[in-house]
Amino acid sequence: MNSTVPNALVDGVATGRIDVQDRGLHYGDGLFETLAVRDGRPRFWSRHMARLMAGLERLGFPVVDERQLEAEAESLIRPGQQGVLKILLTRGRAGRGYGTIKGQAPSRVLLMAPWPEGLEAKARAGVAVRMCQLRLGQNPILAGIKHLNRLEQVMARSEWETPEIDEGLLCDGGERVIEGTRANLFMVRNGTLLTPELSASGVAGVMRSVVLDLARELGAPARVKAIHRRELSEADELFLTNSLQGIVPIRHLQQQQWTDWPLTRRLQEALATTEEGTAWYP
Ligand SMILES: Cc1ncc(COP(=O)(O)O)c(C=O)c1O
Repeated sequence: MNSTVPNALVDGVATGRIDVQDRGLHYGDGLFETLAVRDGRPRFWSRHMARLMAGLERLGFPVVDERQLEAEAESLIRPGQQGVLKILLTRGRAGRGYGTIKGQAPSRVLLMAPWPEGLEAKARAGVAVRMCQLRLGQNPILAGIKHLNRLEQVMARSEWETPEIDEGLLCDGGERVIEGTRANLFMVRNGTLLTPELSASGVAGVMRSVVLDLARELGAPARVKAIHRRELSEADELFLTNSLQGIVPIRHLQQQQWTDWPLTRRLQEALATTEEGTAWYP
């Protein structure tokens, strides 16, 4: 790694430290994005920015200059680099108490991490998944956006240690399946692509939106709807999506098994041939 290029910036300054009064730390008062960087280029930048800006609006943050974020991201990424770019925005510093200071500029934290090993192999072979015991809370004000409160995911991920299990699926209190701990869920049933609606829980993934657009382009019928957990037993195919892994078939879920995923494979191929998804799979 080139030591002259820092791997983290806080408000534009190369440092690995944040202020102890940062509201992101105290209250989880902020938002984040995790982007794939392939061949030196952050992928699906405008979709990530759209979700980030929607989150800012939802939380009542002042607008952030996207060009400034872009310039800072560029300064962190080396030419040709494969990696993960994380962008965090918090409501900045505060004294004691929840009250906010109107118009206070958000703090920006950008950091680069190495590309995780083994993602491509999982996308090819598929992964084993379990059902989590934890139930996601329902909260329409926070649903869909990628805010910094991720305790449900942390708790759910602590439910298993077996390395063979790659992901856990989470339901809400009404036994509707919502998503994985770090991915969205899709199901194919009788030729139709289904993904859970996320008006009260879950994160509206960037890759989920890409997949819904790809399905439209392929002419595959797709619907966003509430999915009861018992409907999973009717799945002809299941797959997970996130910005780093792209599209990952599910091979095992509890007693169920799948060995081929015709529509999932078509969507993977379609993703690999898009401008932003190019070189996603080797
Ligand atoms: C809880 C949760 N849901 C869904 C996703 C998928 O989001 P995206 O496709 O934007 O990466 C993530 C990604 O980290 C996540 O943490």
